[in-house]
Amino acid sequence: MDAPDTSPLRARMIHYSGYLRAPRDFYATPAWVTERLLDHVALRGAVWEPCCGDGAMARVLAARGYQVVASDIADRGFGTPGIDFLAARAFPAGCGAMVTNPPYGEADVMAGRPRSSLAMQRFLRHALSLTAAAQGQLALLVRLQWLAGQRAAAIMSAAPFAKVIVLRDRITWFDRGAETKRAQHHHAWVVFDHQHPPGTPPALLYG
Ligand SMILES: C[S@@+](CC[C@H](N)C(=O)[O-])C[C@H]1O[C@@H](n2cnc3c(N)ncnc32)[C@H](O)[C@@H]1O
Repeated sequence: MDAPDTSPLRARMIHYSGYLRAPRDFYATPAWVTERLLDHVALRGAVWEPCCGDGAMARVLAARGYQVVASDIADRGFGTPGIDFLAARAFPAGCGAMVTNPPYGEADVMAGRPRSSLAMQRFLRHALSLTAAAQGQLALLVRLQWLAGQRAAAIMSAAPFAKVIVLRDRITWFDRGAETKRAQHHHAWVVFDHQHPPGTPPALLYG
């Protein structure tokens, strides 16, 4: 974990939270976040967690009885390291679903409107392409505001968008006891399903 930002430059900050961005965007997701997804979505087949970090999501999936294939570009002591998701050409054999908290990259703002970061768009397009080939499901944890971005709207509108699960509670990414800062962002799960009936609008749920 990175240290609180005390530098005058405040370079690459996470939206002024006061903490420097972690190397390769590593933040472990609290277990309750994945629990809320699984309260609303039944996944088909084994699940791929391609940005598994230290296994925070993969462990919850496994505890719910799913077979999990976990990988990450970095070695964080869990799953198979050295696997660049963006270079993957297919879901791992036997997997019917992909669940992760993707690296968000830096969002930007154009004429007062939020725009999805290029890194996030690239990740999502690739994930949708692999999910289509597997006729599978894709669940991504995103900032709620991300859904309102112009580029995100374009991608989401053309995708088999099945559900959005808005988290009622904000995620505390860094527990620093009494020093913990109040979380600024709301998050949601966006769920795509290539077996979602065409023309059926996505369901809005709260978790
Ligand atoms: C925000 S963390 C999430 C970790 C874990 N999914 C969780 O929710 O606890 C993002 C993870 O994506 C990994 N990552 C970043 N770029 C990647 C890539 N191109 N391929 C695979 N993993 C990547 C990072 O190493 C990091 O562990």
